[in-house]
Amino acid sequence: MDRKLRVGIIGCGGIANSHAKAYLRQPDVKIVAGADLVEGKTAKFFENLGVEGAKCYNSHTEMLADESLKLDAVSVCTYNCTHAECTIAALEKGIHVLLEKPMCVTTEEAVDMIRAEKKSGKLLSLGFQPRFEPNMQMIKKIVQSGELGEIYYIQTGGGRRCGIPVGTLENPKDTFVREDTAALGAVGDIGCYSLDMVLNALGYPKPLRVTGYKSNFFGTNPDYYAGHDKADMSQKFGVDDFAAAFIRLEGGIILDFRIAWAMHLDTPGDTIIMGKKGSLRIPSTDCWNGAPGGAMTIYHDVGGRPTQTTVPLITYNKPLGEYIWDGKIRSFVDAIKNGGSAPVPSSEILYNQAIIDSICKSAELGMEVEVEIPEI
Ligand SMILES: NC(=O)c1ccc[n+]([C@@H]2O[C@H](COP(=O)([O-])OP(=O)(O)OC[C@H]3O[C@@H](n4cnc5c(N)ncnc54)[C@H](O)[C@@H]3O)[C@@H](O)[C@H]2O)c1
Repeated sequence: MDRKLRVGIIGCGGIANSHAKAYLRQPDVKIVAGADLVEGKTAKFFENLGVEGAKCYNSHTEMLADESLKLDAVSVCTYNCTHAECTIAALEKGIHVLLEKPMCVTTEEAVDMIRAEKKSGKLLSLGFQPRFEPNMQMIKKIVQSGELGEIYYIQTGGGRRCGIPVGTLENPKDTFVREDTAALGAVGDIGCYSLDMVLNALGYPKPLRVTGYKSNFFGTNPDYYAGHDKADMSQKFGVDDFAAAFIRLEGGIILDFRIAWAMHLDTPGDTIIMGKKGSLRIPSTDCWNGAPGGAMTIYHDVGGRPTQTTVPLITYNKPLGEYIWDGKIRSFVDAIKNGGSAPVPSSEILYNQAIIDSICKSAELGMEVEVEIPEI
């Protein structure tokens, strides 16, 4: 493909900025259109970014119906509840999709999206930019090298003491906390990253059974929202702000998980990956920002002696954000141009989504559930 790749953005809110800025850094890409349900939002979005000549639409359906755009690809940057419909609609039009995380809300939606992807023959890649950070990649390299031996137990997750995403006082935002827009709280928003960090390292073993728990003690408490319209935000809050789970994976592996948007604690702990030959400690990490929390340590025996080996941090000469976003966007563009496969494949993130969905189902039922994934 010699001409520039023609890209559209669906959902011109917060994260669309990162997509657009990274596309603008690619010389072989042209942003030709954008769509948002909020009247005037797309035009303002392009104006702020200095994007000229891109067409603006009031919904994804309007934009996708305009054949004159000759779109090659779209970034779907809408809130969670419209991920599935926007993605399926684009794939049905024969357009490649880079979709934001979490993949969607339910396992069934994920399955429908993968069916649409297969039928279309186009790419569906998921927006997990931490995968492009070299220290995060080192986690997978260590596990896959066999240095730790057979993995039997993992503890992962993370959290913030006071970090429910409700925007700023000047620009409050409710799309992350409303049931009808986000549907998933911390478990989907940042939980998906913690899960991906370890499951990707292991090669995405299939989840079998899940015991999940969710709570919302902070989000529904008006006192949490210092400065915001407290009653308004606490009443709108319709998702979880904390989740925990005990997950059984194929191969007899146990995954112990906890994630928080808010808690009376600094961190729910480091990520640890325990194997029969060695274990890896990844210091407590805001992995959703793209990097481990510090240098990692391997605990293993050397010459029969318990030994600790520090894995030196890899540095690079760009800001972290730019580095991983360029990785995310460039790999997607290259896959389209070279006929490659999706950089972050839906077949893997299906398991991530199925775990999240199963945590929610188990939490609701108050008991362990089987992870059910329909045939695709
Ligand atoms: N990768 C990351 O680092 C990262 C960071 C933040 C958010 N996200 C994810 O990105 C998604 C969006 O987050 P955000 O912060 O940009 O939210 P946002 O609420 O700021 O923006 C979402 C926009 O999508 C629009 N929209 C919804 N449905 C639409 C449709 N059918 N057609 C056109 N427009 C539609 C909304 O009007 C809104 O303007 C979420 O799923 C979130 O989890 C990813």
